[in-house]
Amino acid sequence: MRLHLTPLRCVAQVKRKPLGGLMVAGVNQMQSYSQGFARVYNLRWSGFARQVAPLILDFYAATPIGHKDKTVLDLCCGTGHLAVYFLEQGYRVVGLDLSEHMLEYARENARQYIDSGQAAFVQGDASNFTLDERFGLVVSTYDALNHLESEKALYKCFQCVYAVCDGYFIFDLNTRSGLRRWNNVYVDESDEDAVIITHGMYDGTGDKAWTRISGFVRLPNGLYERFAEIVFNTVFEMKKVSDLLHDAGWKNTYFARIQDLKTAIDEPEKEGRVFVVASK
Ligand SMILES: C[S@@+](CC[C@H](N)C(=O)[O-])C[C@H]1O[C@@H](n2cnc3c(N)ncnc32)[C@H](O)[C@@H]1O
Repeated sequence: MRLHLTPLRCVAQVKRKPLGGLMVAGVNQMQSYSQGFARVYNLRWSGFARQVAPLILDFYAATPIGHKDKTVLDLCCGTGHLAVYFLEQGYRVVGLDLSEHMLEYARENARQYIDSGQAAFVQGDASNFTLDERFGLVVSTYDALNHLESEKALYKCFQCVYAVCDGYFIFDLNTRSGLRRWNNVYVDESDEDAVIITHGMYDGTGDKAWTRISGFVRLPNGLYERFAEIVFNTVFEMKKVSDLLHDAGWKNTYFARIQDLKTAIDEPEKEGRVFVVASK
């Protein structure tokens, strides 16, 4: 996630301190969001998916395959907000995520479409999955693929997607320069729903940026629940991403900005976040 650009409003920025417990030895390298974090994610971080969904749909709908194939795989779908936008526009959507807690919210948010058979949400690993159906568009948003632990996992993801995709694969990544902004502490106590402290660490050189997101989130009964989540983003070099896509079979790939997915940019490493557009 790019925490400072989310709907989360930063009301206080305090002096950075060493992260202490964040870099714990033996941290599980798969990132399945917990129940408490899923609750606060559903409450606060749906904005990015809502913003980018119409732009991705417009781009895809204007392609030859997009005219006829209205099927989407939302990879690392989280709480399903991008999926819901496509469902509202009449697309068939399958969402896949590692976290059952995130999927619970996705299923709640897309309930009517699941009941009608237009949507399904399945638990799985983005770098090790197979599905029975194929899709015109596979999409993965909000730096979800930075959550994969290594280039090997990213390559396996590209292969899995290739096997189920007939058209376009569009995803965004935080770049190294974007992740430098994680090196900070933010406290958000801007409303009654939650208090959120994000404590990030990235020195700009290593291959992992870390953040600890903790606080309290209000439950439906008015009481507050404590949550804490440690999240990492793997730093992928954009040239390597391009090479891995080609190795996995993707023939046409380029980097773009979300505002104009049709136009390739030359220097993706200079962006904080880039969108990758791949097709066969
Ligand atoms: C930052 S959230 C993005 C969610 C959603 N795409 C959005 O735009 O709001 C990252 C999501 O990736 C999921 N995730 C992390 N690692 C994963 C993996 N290996 N396979 C599938 N999902 C994964 C997390 O559970 C989480 O829901």
